[in-house]
Amino acid sequence: DQTLATLGKRAGVRIGTAVNTDALADEPAYTRQVATQFSSVTPENVMKWDAVEPSRGSYNWKAADQLVSFARAHGQLVRGHTLVWHSQLPSWLTNGSFTPAQLRDILRKHITDEAGHFKGKIWQWDVVNEAFNDDGTLRDTIWLQQLGPGYIADAFRWAHQADPKAVLFINDYNIEGVNAKSTALYNLVKKLRGQGVPIHGVGVQGHLDVQYPAPHDIAQNLARFDALGVQTAITEADVRIPLPSDNTKVEAQNQAYSTLLQGCLLTARCTDFTVWGFTDKYSWVPSVFTGEGDANIMDADYQPKSAFTVLQQDLLLA
Ligand code: G3I
Repeated sequence: DQTLATLGKRAGVRIGTAVNTDALADEPAYTRQVATQFSSVTPENVMKWDAVEPSRGSYNWKAADQLVSFARAHGQLVRGHTLVWHSQLPSWLTNGSFTPAQLRDILRKHITDEAGHFKGKIWQWDVVNEAFNDDGTLRDTIWLQQLGPGYIADAFRWAHQADPKAVLFINDYNIEGVNAKSTALYNLVKKLRGQGVPIHGVGVQGHLDVQYPAPHDIAQNLARFDALGVQTAITEADVRIPLPSDNTKVEAQNQAYSTLLQGCLLTARCTDFTVWGFTDKYSWVPSVFTGEGDANIMDADYQPKSAFTVLQQDLLLA
């Protein structure tokens, strides 16, 4: 049995994927891959605020509940994604006019209700997503503007109250290597833990592009988080290619995937390596990066690409 799930188990990491729940419901070939290759799942969109509370006070948990049941039926763990973000907010929230005190209550209620709804069913929650700019300053979001920097600690406290057993992550991109952003995040996590804030993990998204060299110091970066006593995970790995692809680009893609996975394998408390979708058939990349694609480990017909084989090899050797 050479599935990623099985090889990962032997190597001591879960191998996960983001899941497009429409494809999961409609397409048996997709469903079969999710069920067999992976030991954890992350909802790509359906736990985001706009999906679960499209109009104020009326919740829609259906798609997310179905994924949680699917995971349970297949012995998989669930990464909850995501409670606090600046993107994919419901329009009633972004178009409404609220005082800071009201917004704080709205955020607390959102976290309490969502983490409470899934209480006991979520392995790791991405509590706060993408809170930093690349220069290491806090991103200028509705939450920072209206609530101040304390919103981050508050979010973790509220999530912990609602689901005390969930492992609570802060998650971001462009923090694979040691740089201004990852260092700012490191300093924040260290400070919050010193204050007793229930923050337990750091998620490194891992959205890479073969145009730029993969950071060589991922393992070194993860090691400093490890030394803080927090879990780490690669949470959204994909490696996009400027099209048309060629052998050189594919080779760079293989290297990048391998670097990300190796970083995790070398880190004691790195719990999982999650790809942000596994098939080129459903990828966020082409709609956001014009002219780029082929970012995933299987092609659009679910045939494993060389990146898939590279992950298998790395796990076998771990
Ligand atoms: O659901 C609506 C649908 O009703 C509408 O008809 C359609 C028309 O555009 O849009 C649908 O919403 C789309 C949604 O995905 C669900 O498919 C949004 O337009 C689209 O912007 C959204 O994209 C998602 C993106 O987050 C939004 O920021 C991607 O699928 C998802 O892969 C991506 O995931 C993020 C992580 O959450 C955080 N890290 C970065 C990562 C990649 O951007």
